[in-house]
Order: sequence, then structure tokens, then C-alpha cells
Amino acid sequence: MSAKPRFYVTTPIYYVNDEPHIGHAYTTILADVLARYHRDRGERTFFLTGTDEHGQKVQQAAEKRQVDPKQHCDEYVVRFQEKWEKLNISHDYFIRTTDENHTEVVKYLLQKLWDDGFIYRDTYEGWYSVAEERFLTDKEYEEGDWREVKRLSETNYFFKMSEFQQQLIDYIHDNPQFIQPDFRRNEVLGFLRQPLGDLCISRPKSRLSWGIDLPFDPDYVTYVWFDALTNYITGIGYPQDPERFKKWWPVDYHLIGKDILTTHAVYWPTMLMAAKIPLPKTIFAHGWWLVGTAKMSKSLGNVVRPLDLADKYSVDALRYFLMREMAPGQDASFTEEIFITRYNSDLANDLGNLVNRVTKLVGRFFEGKLPGNADPTPEDADITEKAMALKAVVDTEVDELKINIAIERVLEMLRDINRYMDNQAPWKVVKTDPVRAGGILYTTAEALRLAASALHPVMPAKIMELFDIFGIPDNAFPNAHHWFEWGFLKAGAPVKATAGLFPRIDKEAELASTTDQKSESKPKPIKIKPEVAFEDFEKLDLRVVTIVAAEKHPNADRLLKLQVDLGGEQRQVIAGVAEYFQPDELVGRQITIIANLKPAKIRGEVSQGMILAADDDQSIAPLVPIIPVKNGSKVR
Ligand code: MSP
Repeated sequence: MSAKPRFYVTTPIYYVNDEPHIGHAYTTILADVLARYHRDRGERTFFLTGTDEHGQKVQQAAEKRQVDPKQHCDEYVVRFQEKWEKLNISHDYFIRTTDENHTEVVKYLLQKLWDDGFIYRDTYEGWYSVAEERFLTDKEYEEGDWREVKRLSETNYFFKMSEFQQQLIDYIHDNPQFIQPDFRRNEVLGFLRQPLGDLCISRPKSRLSWGIDLPFDPDYVTYVWFDALTNYITGIGYPQDPERFKKWWPVDYHLIGKDILTTHAVYWPTMLMAAKIPLPKTIFAHGWWLVGTAKMSKSLGNVVRPLDLADKYSVDALRYFLMREMAPGQDASFTEEIFITRYNSDLANDLGNLVNRVTKLVGRFFEGKLPGNADPTPEDADITEKAMALKAVVDTEVDELKINIAIERVLEMLRDINRYMDNQAPWKVVKTDPVRAGGILYTTAEALRLAASALHPVMPAKIMELFDIFGIPDNAFPNAHHWFEWGFLKAGAPVKATAGLFPRIDKEAELASTTDQKSESKPKPIKIKPEVAFEDFEKLDLRVVTIVAAEKHPNADRLLKLQVDLGGEQRQVIAGVAEYFQPDELVGRQITIIANLKPAKIRGEVSQGMILAADDDQSIAPLVPIIPVKNGSKVR
């Protein structure tokens, strides 16, 4: 007999200094939902999350608080651990990079790569920015306006990442599942078209002391990524417990945000190749939660704290919203208004109301005991069939990581059940044919039980509450034989009255009380620049162009390098929109540029023009013609 399937899923390990927000909560809940789907199928499952605790920022934060860095981490890690507990996260292990076992294994791995000749020592001389605490490339130094720059010569240790470039490219081509979604795979392949450098993996202790010592040179610590990525294997017993390691590795999913794609899809696989460890099955990069249209950031003061919402609307409503609203891969927008709309339509209406209706009718007409259905009609058979097919439908979507679609399928089912009930109208039928009315209520309850099972991973507490209403004991789900078959609920079973699983939210009243709304209603006064003559305006040549190619600027995180078609002429324009748009999203779009701006070199890349974009201090929105026009069209 073959062993039960097994499933291993990870989240990024979060910087221990950070205040957990809905972005962190999203990845963690997504991993939790996946783990729970697999557990509900009876698979052996391992779910790893944790915190990234070494590095400059932690060292500095501890110094500021005048405590030892480890003590600082011990105090701060609790913020993540407590939140995950409240959000009902069912991780099997919470790893901390300061765990003794982890640090020992990182040293072991470094030693192994050093012994095998994949790490070398080299002296690098270059321009060093004291403010940014990093070396600048010559190009960056020449182009940028840097403060506190000095010439520094530093010896460091480097991992021979470049040796694995071709092997990695081949692997990505041969394994389309390795980097998902597909457009992220293309992004990584694009990155790998340029020569891959070696990776500096150390910092001298004079610069950074809060890290793991290099086993072959105690004057150095290893730099954070080498330490952090390794958590995915130290958390499952590498190398001390080979049996356990083999049981879980290769991982099924490394879930990450799009911000850390390169480290996961380039650094990590090359490290694994050097260590002769198989590569992960899938690295899945999800999109970004925006607040309205803006990036979430401390400086904008728009950070959404997950527990504020969970306290207000229930943990499961928050979990539901995050899973339903984001198509994994794409960005999604959070506002309290969208949250409440979704809650009311899906949870209060489609699900909550259905539960209320069934329980009330059973209470009123059948003394709180579930009637049976001895004589099913074709309409009953129809709903029965759909309910029984639902599990397979949902499993397929979940296996493609389309959790939002899986949820939508369940909601469609719930709407079908509501419609069935409306059409059959048991509250009317009961007056003339109580047996038939009982049959309708049984069919409704049983279909509801099956649909609810498919939502259990998303809303574990609420769904167990729902089962309890139907008298199902805690341990029955999903272990009971016949759980996923029709007929699990038995006639005569007690049905409890309920105060409502998801009470409706009064949207207007709720929104009126949120501070966001108040601050938004007071716009800042706008300062207009001094007048200019029409002739001055006419000096600018504004044109419509189509973006034909886009990629990240090699030397600047906030810039994109765009190739634009100006109607017969192609140009390169550098645009500061990388925080808001992925290169792929822009290709094929028409935008407007100033075509006669004197060309400039921006961080080493020529920019022949500048894009026009609206800036409201929160987002940057390139200006587009509202209907397609010829490239090169004038903007007047
Ligand atoms: N410590 C590194 C990861 C090391 S993994 C070996 C790190 N930590 S982090 O605290 O910055 O967390 C980044 C992760 O948080 C993202 O990859 C993503 O999973 C999640 N999110 C942070 N902000 C987010 C949004 N606004 N939206 C969605 N998820 C985001 O990077």
C-alpha cells in the first residue's frame, strides 16, 4: 500500500522588528488554509513559519533600547506568536533564526560549502555609503548624489552563485511549476539574462556583530539571507534527522510576497544546488495588499493591523475576506468598505441566512429535530448531486492555489441551496404536506453541511460552530466514515437554535465611525505654482507612446526601465514607478511622455524623456489616453 500523501508548506520568516500587519497575516493565513485543506484530506502535513532575527536593524533597535539583541528578539517575537495564535494559525513549528539548532546547522552548511570550494575570500575595494551601510557600484557612485561616502577596502566571503547560472536557467525551463505564477517565472528568467554575480555572504564583525559566526573565520558573521533561507530545511531536521528531512523535503510550496522573489528563486536554489539538495517544488509569489490604491507603509500611517479587524468582525471574517478577495499572484485592495460589503453579501447573506432559515424552520415545525427525506424528488437529486461533486471541484482549485475561486465555487453552491429552498418553500408546504417539508429541510441541511466542510480550512472556528448547531461532535469532522457522502446527518438529530453566525453589519454606521473616513474628508489645500505663459507650455512636446518592454532598473529598486514606441521611433525612458507596478503589467499600455526633455543618465541608464503621472502622495498613476490613439500623437 502506498503511503499517504504528504504536504509541506512554508511562509517567509518575518523580520522580528516589524509590527505584524495584514500583509504578513495574509501569507500566514494562506499557508494555514492550504495546510488545513491538506489535513482535512487526511494527508500528513507540515506547516512552518517563524521570524528572521539577525542583522543590522535588530542590532540597532536593541542598542536603542539598551538591551541585549537576544533579549530584544525574545520580547518582540511574542508579537508575531500571539497574533498567529489569535488568528487560529495551525503551524506545526515556529522557527527563530536565533534558535541554537538553526545556528548550528547554518554553520554546518557554510562549512560544507567552504570545504567543497563554493565559498571564497576576496578583497573588494569600492565606494562605501556610511548612511546606507553598503558598497555602491561605480555606476551608482557616479550617477547618484550620495552623502557620507568613503573609499573602503574590505575582505569578505563570497558564494560562487555565478557557477550555477546555467543550471538554474535549465531547471526553470524544465520545471514550469518551480516558479509560479507564470509571469513571475518570466521575470526571473529575464533577470537571469544578465550575468549572475557571486553573492557576498559575510560581514566583518566590526560592522555587524549580531549574526551567525562563519565557522572558518570567527571575525565574520554570515549576512542575513544565507541565514534566513536555510530555515526552510533546518525547521524539518536537516541534516541531523535525515529520515524526517526526507519525509518533508522537497517542500510543496514556499509562499512568499513578490518583494522577495529573487532571493527565493535565485539565491536559494543555487545554494541548494551547491549543497546537493533537491530544489523546492513550487515557489509561489503572491501580490501586494494595497490600502485603497496606496502601498501600506508606516510613513503613510495607513498600516492595517489584522487584529483590529478580527476583534471587530471576528477572526474568521478576516480570514475569509483575505482569502476571497485576493487572486493569489495579483495585487488586491483593502478598505473597510470593501470588507463590509463582502462580509454582508457572502457571510451574513448567503451563508449566515441559510443557517438561520433552516434552524428556525426545524425549530418551529419539527421541535428542533432534523426530519428525514424518505422520498427524494428530482429537485432534491439535483442539489444532492451538486453538493457531492463540490469537494472535487474545490480540491482542484486549491491544488492550483486558486483559493479565491475555490471559495467562489462554495458560495455558488450556497446560492444554489438558497434558491432551492426559495423554490421549494418548505414554510408553505408544511401546511399541507409536513413530510415533504421535512424532506426539503433535510436536503437543505445536508447540502449545507457538505458546502460548509469545504469552507472549514478558511473559517475553522465558525464552521465547527455550524456543525455544532447540527449536533455534530467535534471529532466527527472530517474523520467520520462517510463524512463526504450524502446522508451523514441522521433524521431525529437535534438542531440548535442560533443567534446567527454572522450578524449583518450596518455599513453606513460602521464607516461613519472610522477615523479614516474623517481624515479623508478634509483635503489638504492645494498650492499651485506661479503662472506661466502659453509659449512656455508650448515648449514642451508631450506625446502618447506604447510601452513595448519593461524591466527593473539594474541599479535602483524604485525605477523601471521602459522601452517605448513613439510611432516609428523606439526610446528608453526611466520611470520611478517600480513600487507600484510590476514590469509585466505595463507592457502593451499606452502612456504619455515629455518627448523633448533633455536626455539624462539616471543611475547609469539613459532616459530619453519622462513619463507623465499623477501623484497623490500615496500612489503614482501614469496618465493614459482614454481611448487608443496612434503612437506619437500630440498631447495638447
Ligand atoms: N525576513 C525576510 C524574509 C526571509 S524568508 C527566508 C522578509 N521579512 S518581512 O518581514 O519583510 O516579510 C516580507 C513578507 O511579508 C512578504 O514576502 C509577504 O509575504 C508579506 N508582506 C509584507 N507586506 C505585504 C503586503 N503589503 N501585502 C502582502 N504581503 C506582504 O522579507
